[in-house]
Amino acid sequence: MATEMHPDVSEILFSEEDIQGIVRRMGAQISADYADKNPLVVAVLRGAVVFTADLMRAITCPMAIDFMAVSSYGEGFKSSGVVRIVKDLDTKIEGRDVIIVEDILDSGLTLSYLVRLLESRNPASVEVAAFLVKDVADNTPAITPRYVGAHVPDEFIVGYGLDFAERYRNLPYIGILRPEVYKKK
Ligand code: XMP
Ligand code: MG
Repeated sequence: MATEMHPDVSEILFSEEDIQGIVRRMGAQISADYADKNPLVVAVLRGAVVFTADLMRAITCPMAIDFMAVSSYGEGFKSSGVVRIVKDLDTKIEGRDVIIVEDILDSGLTLSYLVRLLESRNPASVEVAAFLVKDVADNTPAITPRYVGAHVPDEFIVGYGLDFAERYRNLPYIGILRPEVYKKK
């Protein structure tokens, strides 16, 4: 069945099948690296929920899951790097191997803040699994994720958990949002 493209999306970058392949590869890497470590997988709400739900089912070693919700103080699309914790972990991470799961890394400021915060709690290790990394010219991301699903161009990306104004998270594919959609208003 061909995927019906949403009229606000100009291009599909990764279909459901593409996503499945990427997630399987990431799950296999993580399962090999953490075989005997029982890592804590930390999903960053809300964008990473869809990816995390798939990724955890592609992880074959023992693991646990917890959630954090953060909100960036910056206005608009660009994060400022100043992050407010809206929901913290319920799990103590001292001595544990932690994998932070994010939907997309742009400047990397959000994730570098989270990595520093969690590192201050003395875990055994903290690594990042980012489903997407945005390729932005003249911009070196503040962190390098250990696991990366795919690279995307410097456009507004929606679907598979990624939103614009809380819409489009339910699209089963990753697409480029038409600029007309976010430029009007
Ligand atoms: P930084 O710059 O801190 O930004 O790496 C990461 C956060 O910004 C959001 N973001 C996006 N969300 N489509 C989205 O739906 C995008 O193209 C996009 N680029 C950045 C996202 O919340 C991520 O956690
Ligand atoms: Mg996010």
